[in-house]
Amino acid sequence: MKKVKLVCFSGTGGTKRFTSSLETSLIKCGCDVKVLYLETKLIEIAKREGTFNDISYDFIIILFPVHAFDAPEPVYKWIKALPKCQMVSVALISVSAAGEYWINQACRIGLIRALSKKGYNVFYERMIIMPFNILFATKESFSMRLLQLLPIKAENTAKEILELKRRRIEPKLKSRVITRLAKVEKVTSKLFGKELRIKKTCTQCGLCANSCPMENIKMNYGTPHFGWRCVECLRCIYICHTHSIYPFVSRFMVVKGGYDLDRLEKQIENTILESDEELTAGVYSFFREYIENEWI
Ligand SMILES: Cc1cc2nc3c(=O)[nH]c(=O)nc-3n(C[C@H](O)[C@H](O)[C@H](O)COP(=O)(O)O)c2cc1C
Repeated sequence: MKKVKLVCFSGTGGTKRFTSSLETSLIKCGCDVKVLYLETKLIEIAKREGTFNDISYDFIIILFPVHAFDAPEPVYKWIKALPKCQMVSVALISVSAAGEYWINQACRIGLIRALSKKGYNVFYERMIIMPFNILFATKESFSMRLLQLLPIKAENTAKEILELKRRRIEPKLKSRVITRLAKVEKVTSKLFGKELRIKKTCTQCGLCANSCPMENIKMNYGTPHFGWRCVECLRCIYICHTHSIYPFVSRFMVVKGGYDLDRLEKQIENTILESDEELTAGVYSFFREYIENEWI
């Protein structure tokens, strides 16, 4: 029986959904699977249990949303805490809205470098497409199709990883350059936390504080206060029932109408989706390939 560790950071639930599908597929293939979500509270528990940076697995699979053409900070921090090793097999699954478009192509390169330095063998890279949770909304029917595809993409991913299929991508120079330049986002995300404001509609329910993966929100006499640990995952903004959290300057970053994958999932059952041809008319060809070819 193969032992697999899934390590996931997810802001708004897209990556988490794929992680759950992959866990199901791996269990179906007879694997013993452990999942670690990179959220402060859960990290503390894992540290107490001694499982946080345990690497006694046949495979480690790291899953993360692409943030500014790169992986978010909690993933880098977890890798920093890993012990050195001799060739533990690692797969990297990035989840993004623009897929394997050239701007995203180097999004795993920083992680690969950090892991390789410690002796890990990154043999597998894959991009999963999920709806945009930033700037503008992905068309609803298209988003639903992306959600529908998750189990089959997970099944294929599990098969390829267990077969040790080598799947590596050589990013273009321009992709590497843009990822390097976008490192500045690691700093600006901290400032983003500081520009978050609360509207009068806040019901002081504390959901934002309880949900923040970084424990960056403290309730102070009923009002949420934001610290310096924000990673700009946007969870607090979209999870708020009264839409009371907003960035003072970067309002353009928030999807108008919110981002609610639970609602879309429920809607799928009662929706007859257009054909794949209609869904992908007028979009970049890599979106069409991703939808039509279950191995991409
Ligand atoms: C701060 C931030 C930066 C992002 N940058 C990118 C990006 O560079 N490329 C991209 O395709 N999507 C980008 N996205 C979109 C997310 O990667 C995408 O919506 C993903 O599905 C979110 O996953 P999650 O729900 O697990 O957080 C960004 C989202 C955020 C919040």
